[in-house]
Amino acid sequence: MSEVSLDANKSAQQGESEQASDNSRRKFLTVATSVIGAVGAAGAAVPFIASWQPSARAKAAGADVEVDISGLQSGQLIRVMWRSKPVWIVRRTPELLKTLSALDGQLRDPNSEAEQQPAYAQNAYRSIKEEYLVLVGICTHLGCSPQHLTDGAFTEYAEGVAEGFFCPCHGSKFDMAGRVFQGVPAPLNLVVPPYFFVDDNTILIGSDGEVA
Ligand code: FES
Repeated sequence: MSEVSLDANKSAQQGESEQASDNSRRKFLTVATSVIGAVGAAGAAVPFIASWQPSARAKAAGADVEVDISGLQSGQLIRVMWRSKPVWIVRRTPELLKTLSALDGQLRDPNSEAEQQPAYAQNAYRSIKEEYLVLVGICTHLGCSPQHLTDGAFTEYAEGVAEGFFCPCHGSKFDMAGRVFQGVPAPLNLVVPPYFFVDDNTILIGSDGEVA
């Protein structure tokens, strides 16, 4: 009886000791797992946080673009990319400028009343300097990029008008101030982006500066 009781005590003590050991092991495993988990989470957070920072490419995609126009001859057009969009800079001839007002009756918004340009380009030429037209080269219908047709090629689409922009996607037409003709799918004039002249030979696209 006493032996039984001693054994029982012994086995009870043994049981308690094993349980304590189990608890301690479990605790260690729990702590170890938590620490590893935290380190793992911290390790995983580094590339994740890094991905929140805008990349150099993304910064460049939103940056202003400075364009040297010193080589742009009268009658020529150059294309640059700004915020992943094509932007045209056209040096219009004095002769072409004289023809623009004659088109008013054929245009949907000849006075540029819709907000498609900064205030400093809401004028007859839709530009800061009459000679230089700056436009986002994206059709206001569904976003195709229109073609610049010169030397009479535009007359096929607008009788008596030698030069303009034609969108082949659905036939929208714009004059050499980016104003949309009536009776075409595009609802609005082409967009004039913010820009200013840094000096006589340099245009900065993307910001409103002091108008030169
Ligand atoms: S996208 Fe230019 S006419 Fe439709």
